[in-house]
Amino acid sequence: MEIKKMSELHLDQIVELEKLCFSDPWSRPMIEPELTNPLSLWLVATQEDMVLGYIGSQSVLDAADIMNVAVSPQCRRKGIAQQLIASLSSALVQRNVRFLALEVRASNLPAISLYEKLGFLQVGRRPAYYRNPKEDAIIMRKELI
Ligand code: COA
Repeated sequence: MEIKKMSELHLDQIVELEKLCFSDPWSRPMIEPELTNPLSLWLVATQEDMVLGYIGSQSVLDAADIMNVAVSPQCRRKGIAQQLIASLSSALVQRNVRFLALEVRASNLPAISLYEKLGFLQVGRRPAYYRNPKEDAIIMRKELI
């Protein structure tokens, strides 16, 4: 498996994985501009030409947010999300990012366990942040350096 920057070649598969993994997926017109947004960094985990997982982030000065992370259902529990977050964190540190934050659905225990395993702390809650279905977000944060 390889982890590399997202390119145009990966877009179709990411759009399909978004639909498969999220009840309120990002569409292609939402994801495509991330390729050229200087504040964004998206990475993909690939095997040959197949996208197994991906992670998207946006940074402002020394703080970055994980916008989304997903792994293909048949490739889960193999450490792929963990590797994507580790690679993203290293790349962001190179860009002088110190703080990495994210929102996660309060009921998403697999994702919350993943972030806690990697040292993210729960720092707040945004009531009714999500739609489809409506749900609170837990805000999590990690100091990278
Ligand atoms: N139940 C409990 N803990 C889980 C878990 C699950 N289903 N999936 C992952 N974890 C935790 C475990 O601590 C795991 O370590 P372990 O396998 O040694 O016990 C650790 O996270 C690392 O797991 P990893 O194999 O790297 O995760 P993954 O590649 O399976 O991907 C998600 C995890 C959350 C990205 C994946 O389940 C997914 O794509 N879910 C749908 C999309 C989503 O909810 N994204 C997060 C949005 S905020």
